[in-house]
Amino acid sequence: MRKWWMTRNGYQIYPRSFFDSNNDGIGDIKGITLKLDYLKELGIDLIWICPFYDSPMDDNGYDVRNFFDVAKEFGTLDDFKELLKKAKTLDIKIILDFVLNHTSDEHPWFIESRSSINNDKRDYYIWEEGKLVNDKLMPPTNWGSFFSGSAWNYDQQTNMFYMKIFSNKMPDLNWKNKEVRNEMINVGKWWLDLGVDGFRIDAVSHLDRAPFIDSTKSNEIVLDWNKFSNLPKVHTYLKELNEKLFSKYDALTIGEVGGAASIKSGLKYSAFDRFELSMVFNFDHNWCNNLNDITDYKDLKTDVLSLKRVFNNWQTAFTDKGWLPLNWLNHDQPRLMSHYGDLAFFKESAKMLATALYLMRGTPFIYQGEEIGMTNYHFTKFSEFNDVSSINHYHSLDKDLSEKEKLRIVAKSSRDHARTGIQWENSEFAGFSKVKPKVLINSNYKDINVLDNISDESSIWHHYKKILELRKNSEYQEVLVFGKYKQLKLKDPNLYIYERESNDKKILVINSFSKDVYEYKVTYKVKNILLKNYEDILIKNNIIKLRPYESVVLEVFK
Ligand code: NOJ
Repeated sequence: MRKWWMTRNGYQIYPRSFFDSNNDGIGDIKGITLKLDYLKELGIDLIWICPFYDSPMDDNGYDVRNFFDVAKEFGTLDDFKELLKKAKTLDIKIILDFVLNHTSDEHPWFIESRSSINNDKRDYYIWEEGKLVNDKLMPPTNWGSFFSGSAWNYDQQTNMFYMKIFSNKMPDLNWKNKEVRNEMINVGKWWLDLGVDGFRIDAVSHLDRAPFIDSTKSNEIVLDWNKFSNLPKVHTYLKELNEKLFSKYDALTIGEVGGAASIKSGLKYSAFDRFELSMVFNFDHNWCNNLNDITDYKDLKTDVLSLKRVFNNWQTAFTDKGWLPLNWLNHDQPRLMSHYGDLAFFKESAKMLATALYLMRGTPFIYQGEEIGMTNYHFTKFSEFNDVSSINHYHSLDKDLSEKEKLRIVAKSSRDHARTGIQWENSEFAGFSKVKPKVLINSNYKDINVLDNISDESSIWHHYKKILELRKNSEYQEVLVFGKYKQLKLKDPNLYIYERESNDKKILVINSFSKDVYEYKVTYKVKNILLKNYEDILIKNNIIKLRPYESVVLEVFK
């Protein structure tokens, strides 16, 4: 099966930190419009924009107050229409974040719902009585939320608890209610009619919940994914959305299915013959290192074998059956270079990581700033955190820990690393804004910025551009987009090597994840060198000498 979104090159935008056009310190929609030419130049023709809907911004827009309007700080609906218009002239498709699982507690539905148990909208959300334990009113179950604490919040007005698997200000919608489903179909229809090309669907795996019985994982409050992830009804809801909405517009839909989705469930969501979603973002390849076990970043080590296994398993399971997005990390995760890169071999490792991922079968989604190798932020005080989950995490820590220790723990997993302002140039505030930004700016913008990258032919940015060009505007598009994927040397702990093959072409993608030197014997006759991350390649009698993080893409004779 072939679809329009398979040959596209995607890019993810977190509007708040992308580009500030009106100098209020926050990125905005006009800022995106102004940078469309930049994206086009890089080779992008599909963008996913994170939420810019009207919102009190408890979770930077994932808490939607009005699905049909734009948050003031991001601009106006007319700004968005302008963006769409310009994108169309550049042939850039736009998909939006569609938040189905919850709204803001300031959404009019919730304001009504909480007002009385007899209200028409009561059933739009999930309300339950608490439990009396030793005369103390406790939540209905011990289920924990993703953002620390209970998955239930007590509401005084009716003396009941509402479910909220994210923050207190993000009550979960009740998808069992047909009216809720119809409302959300209308929301989707409204944006598709306006001209958007599809959606990244937020937290989609959580729309169905298990019966409200305590998790046996612990006696305490505990985050038990099984209670609200990948349960059967989600598929019924998605089939309904597909039939009534997505299929009518040939929309691209990418579901966020969280870390708990197996390959089997990934296929259930997005196999071609399931008529649910176009693809799913899974997170199996996001945590293939020892981040959770270390206290010092200098001990961070990529588990190359597990990364290779994950890639191999997903790529092979989806052959002929479905399609995958290719993304390293996103706005909820650390920066790629601080996570899997090697700062001592900055350019080499950044380029190798790009080559390793984006020449597989699927649609690339580059996360903003990745194309210049942006890195994690160095936090020095608690007030620097903006992310609600980091703030909750901080408050949930043992009070006896020192301030420094708390900072270290929260910084390790904070989502704010990925949300610092884009480093456009080596000028004040990194060219992100002309006033002091309200988002953090990484002090390394003097060395890492877009302008310098563009003017240096050997930069990371130019390497990304070359990859996107190969996938898009070259005789290799067919093999690189649609060709078969086969991983070689499965057990090698340092080299990630795979072939792509079509009827008439064969490509060999060789990547070293090590700072040591290795030799690799190419067993085919080399036809062409398509891409490299060193100036030359060292090859003799078909044996390639791979330097630290070297990456080479060869066309070989079949
Ligand atoms: C996933 C989004 O990527 C994240 O940023 C957000 O906080 C949660 N869903 C809740 O909407």
